[in-house]
Amino acid sequence: MENKKRYERPVVIKQYSGFMNKFGSRPVLNPVTTIDGIEVDELAERFGSPLFVISEKAIRSNQRKANRIFKTRYPKVQFAWSYKTNYLNAVCAVFHQEGSWAEVVSRFEYDKAKKLGVKGENIIFNGPDKSRDDLTVAINDGAKIHIDHFDELYELIDLTSQLNKKANVAIRVNMDTGTYPKWDRFGFNFENGEAWQALKRIIAATNLNLVGLHTHIGTYMMQADSYKTAAIKMAQLAAGLKRENGILLDYIDMGGGLPSNNTLIGQYLPAEQILPTLEEFADAISEGLMTLNFQPDEMPLLILESGRALIDDTSKLISTVIAVKRLSDGRRALIVDAGVNLLFTRFWYKHKINPAQDSGVMTEDTAIYGPLCMNIDCLAESLVMPVLKKGDKLIIDYVGAYNMTQWMQFIHMRPNVVMILEDGTVELIRKAEDLDYVQMPEVLPEKFKSLPV
Ligand SMILES: Cc1ncc(COP(=O)(O)O)c(C=O)c1O
Repeated sequence: MENKKRYERPVVIKQYSGFMNKFGSRPVLNPVTTIDGIEVDELAERFGSPLFVISEKAIRSNQRKANRIFKTRYPKVQFAWSYKTNYLNAVCAVFHQEGSWAEVVSRFEYDKAKKLGVKGENIIFNGPDKSRDDLTVAINDGAKIHIDHFDELYELIDLTSQLNKKANVAIRVNMDTGTYPKWDRFGFNFENGEAWQALKRIIAATNLNLVGLHTHIGTYMMQADSYKTAAIKMAQLAAGLKRENGILLDYIDMGGGLPSNNTLIGQYLPAEQILPTLEEFADAISEGLMTLNFQPDEMPLLILESGRALIDDTSKLISTVIAVKRLSDGRRALIVDAGVNLLFTRFWYKHKINPAQDSGVMTEDTAIYGPLCMNIDCLAESLVMPVLKKGDKLIIDYVGAYNMTQWMQFIHMRPNVVMILEDGTVELIRKAEDLDYVQMPEVLPEKFKSLPV
């Protein structure tokens, strides 16, 4: 019985074996059998499946490349790791070792950065929701507080006078950069004069040190020109502050928003073919800031809060085929053990998915579903894949940004996350959750403790 071949009901399906497709190339389905030199099978055997695998080497290489590109175009550059993108301690620590400050948007992220050892003065506190208590901590630590709205500004004026302490502040500026829809819900608007009004209010306050200007013009920005427009507008504000108030800013923070190599849903061509290069973005930002025409020693530090562009391609998700079926239209469907619970970015991206073993040249149009008992749990509606079977593995690529922060403990628990260190050792950096962990915050009232069933 054991040796009997598995029966699969025959269907007539058009097969593609090494044909050109309509763009002239045959489907590229290179099996990904190793990650940083370690066998995928070995990783899955040791740490289970699904499994997030992050490469330390890739993070360092991305950060160093970004430093080099920006520092060869603008004299003073500082990166600040955007915690929300991926705040696993090991990931943040690698960025901090590479010299990045911390960019946080909540007290939770703020405390995480501090606990990791980041100095208060190297924490940038963004976001629209900072309580009086959060602001008190940030003032006492000398953190850089980026004010989002007038209520926060007035709260800071009141708080600093009550504490009799000075706060280091900047404002977040929003603007029309030519990319739409405009991101105008955060910060103060440039075009209608609101940003200037906020700056004047800060200058008039006794205990607020105006140290910088901040903007974050959007995310997955596809036009380098928008950054140039933004940098020119920031430079205009900085020049106005010098001219009218004799204030020289310490820094201009151009935020994040640079795209990663993931292809957006609805995008026809692959990301690599249509996105500007990092060099083009750096050119745009530095050309915009250079319109300042200040003396070299008066030029502000350029801060960048790049997230996805530095982390997406450092991480892969190993997943295993649980079952293979045919849909009613004859399409092959795979059910795999990683779904949208772990891959939040599936709602924006057409993720690159490759087999993790040599699976022959025959391919089929395949749908890939996750393990959740929910119709939305679909990783790919139609992908040219080799003929995979139960137990085969897939590698979902470019998953480093936003998945390990926006993942859901929904139906299934979150799996292990490992980092392959530079010397080739594999470290568990976040343990798979278990029932005790998930139920820890729950309280069962006494009367429900004995059940009749
Ligand atoms: C203020 C701020 N900075 C940086 C980032 C990082 O953005 P990205 O991952 O697009 O580079 C974000 C993300 O939304 C943000 O809100």
